[in-house]
Amino acid sequence: MPASSSRIPGFYRMPPAERRRRLLELMGLSQEGCAALEPGALTLEVADGMIENVIGLYALPFAIAVNFTIDGTDALVPMVVEEPSVVAASSNAARMVRPRGFETVVSAPVMIGQIQVTDIADVDSAARVLRAHAEELLGDARLLVPRLAARGGGPVALDVRPLTRSGPDGGVIVVHLHVDCRDAMGANLVNTLCEALATKVADLAEGRPGLRILSNLTDGRTVTVRCSADDTLLASDQAAGPDVRAAIAAASRFAELDPYRAATHNKGIMNGVDAVLVATGQDWRAVEAGAHAFAARTGVYRPLAVWRERPGGLEGELVMPMAVGTVGGALHVHPGARLALELAGVQTADRLAAIAGAAGLATNLAALRALATEGIQRGHMALHARRLARAAGATGEMIERVADELAAAGDVKAERAREVLARLRGPHMVKDSP
Ligand code: MEV
Repeated sequence: MPASSSRIPGFYRMPPAERRRRLLELMGLSQEGCAALEPGALTLEVADGMIENVIGLYALPFAIAVNFTIDGTDALVPMVVEEPSVVAASSNAARMVRPRGFETVVSAPVMIGQIQVTDIADVDSAARVLRAHAEELLGDARLLVPRLAARGGGPVALDVRPLTRSGPDGGVIVVHLHVDCRDAMGANLVNTLCEALATKVADLAEGRPGLRILSNLTDGRTVTVRCSADDTLLASDQAAGPDVRAAIAAASRFAELDPYRAATHNKGIMNGVDAVLVATGQDWRAVEAGAHAFAARTGVYRPLAVWRERPGGLEGELVMPMAVGTVGGALHVHPGARLALELAGVQTADRLAAIAGAAGLATNLAALRALATEGIQRGHMALHARRLARAAGATGEMIERVADELAAAGDVKAERAREVLARLRGPHMVKDSP
């Protein structure tokens, strides 16, 4: 069940225990519902079964980005990330676009498996033979996954792509098997099918079977996210809405012109996307690889999201591959990932793709707005000031008081944080309220 509202005013000011309490209340979960957030929820024994040579567990902060409304339904967005600002920035951007929210289009969940055949003497004739047997090969593949077919998925198409007629590997053809993976990410499924078909494919081509593996350029499995922000919400302390709008559109054009800028622009998108993917136990390296290959698909590396001005506001659109799943993978064993899906109200891979994409467009908007106005360092400094205040021993509301003073003075240093805290506490070391 999705949260009834993703607006939780003052969430960022609450101590973690209070945030948990609010979430449990909002989601109608029992106290045990949050057990997955405790250290040790993932046991060493389970971890030892996940990967090899395990020596321990490694923790990262788990947070919730608020204010998101996606396709007319609110969502609490789970994020696991080590970088400050990502959660705050995406929550702020989600608030700016909240009046209409994010709108998404998620394609059918079709993954591509590649079967390479090398040492083909006559590539043109082999391609003809393979194309003539495409339906038969697809039928063979379908027979291998009857349960997936019963759920409406399974192999849907087969392409034959001649790569070269000669060279060190002789004539080379790659056969693409397109598989609708439904709610699975599908790597195991696709790899199994490719391995099973490879011998027959190579025999038909009169060549040698080469690699049999999925492609991470999942251009048949994409998410498109659109949003729109009015000038009134784009405005900052220093800049009027129309100026912010124009500066963000100019920043988008810069990324469209220059791959060096596009890489950083896309990194800002992946800040949000990856944080959601890590929280929900996805193969984020697969999505990263797909995102950058997709960004370069025209031969020039381009931004995954672009922003255009409209009268009175700004419109953004992100299109990127998004191979995610809500069954299989780490979800079998990782309690934190399962809780993340539950908090986000995610039942299907489509909804997870929509949420991860919306998080990406949100972090992109927040980064461009900051860069186009005050620069990102001020926001980073405010967070850094809070970290120093905590490290100096401040708790509760004292954290904000110390941090505000450090940031206002532009002197964000550990020693200064200790001095400010000592002064604010006064000579009697009055304990600050929790
Ligand atoms: C930092 O993690 C991300 C940014 O560099 C993104 C961008 O420049 O658009 C701020």
